[in-house]
Amino acid sequence: TLDHETILVERKGRTALLTLNRPKALNALNLQVMNEVVAATEALDRDPDCGCIVITGSERAFAAGADIKEMQPQGYMDMYLADWFTAWDRLGQLRTPTVAAVSGYALGGGCELAMLCDILLAADTAVFGQPEIKLGVIPGIGGSQRLTRAVGKAKAMELCLTGRTMDAAEAERAGLVSRVLPAGALIGEALAVAETVAGMSLPVAMMAKEAVSRAFETSLAEGVRFERRLFHAVFATADQKEGMSAFADKRPAVFRHR
Ligand code: CAA
Repeated sequence: TLDHETILVERKGRTALLTLNRPKALNALNLQVMNEVVAATEALDRDPDCGCIVITGSERAFAAGADIKEMQPQGYMDMYLADWFTAWDRLGQLRTPTVAAVSGYALGGGCELAMLCDILLAADTAVFGQPEIKLGVIPGIGGSQRLTRAVGKAKAMELCLTGRTMDAAEAERAGLVSRVLPAGALIGEALAVAETVAGMSLPVAMMAKEAVSRAFETSLAEGVRFERRLFHAVFATADQKEGMSAFADKRPAVFRHR
């Protein structure tokens, strides 16, 4: 629908589905993909009628990593001056909740892209890993940090040092993904989760996301304090009145996203 070459963006009610679309390269994340994903998601983030964004790839590959052929000739000054991959950070700064629906390969930058999303759902075909070391490099879109926080030091070290991959079942046991689904059910379930999230009050969902995200950035005491401030703040929304009144009246809440 929008003017993109490497991604497809579809709107469905209050949700958006962003599909990586470089099938010949297994959705390798070159700079064009990065710029299009960031521009499209930032536009959706500014849209008050979008309450949740699903990011997915193909059945075979969510994304097989950053584009190795594009990086191969680059030198330090090229990487430094272009500030290579820094735009991806903006995906993690969106206020709208995001869902990664991962089928097939999620390697290197693909695994990192999935970890930049808020909810990570995997098909039983999903394969996760940070195999950069096999190419003589290391993760560059936050993988060494986010993987370690998600699965702990021992497994993150093993994955980053050996480049071995993990299947969906191991990823779920390790806490990297919230749920594993049969491949054929992945997109339907991801869209259903997105619709559920988008049906909540958008500002309250933003605050819930902000509160959970804070756990990665601060001490427990500061995080609890931050949560308490946001908890008090939600009582300034009309949607808090609606949600609690609806409960008392035994009817479904109809949020107005304010
Ligand atoms: N970059 C560029 N092109 C890629 C690619 C990548 N990361 N991954 C796959 N492709 C291309 C292949 O070169 C091939 O293109 P051609 O048809 O032109 O040869 C096409 O996609 C299909 O791939 P394969 O033929 O290799 O498919 P396969 O089924 O035999 O193997 C695979 C699949 C195991 C995922 C294999 O493609 C592979 O190992 N890919 C690279 C995985 C990887 O190392 N990712 C990390 C990249 S570095 C990184 O991401 C840095 C960072 O942290 C930001």
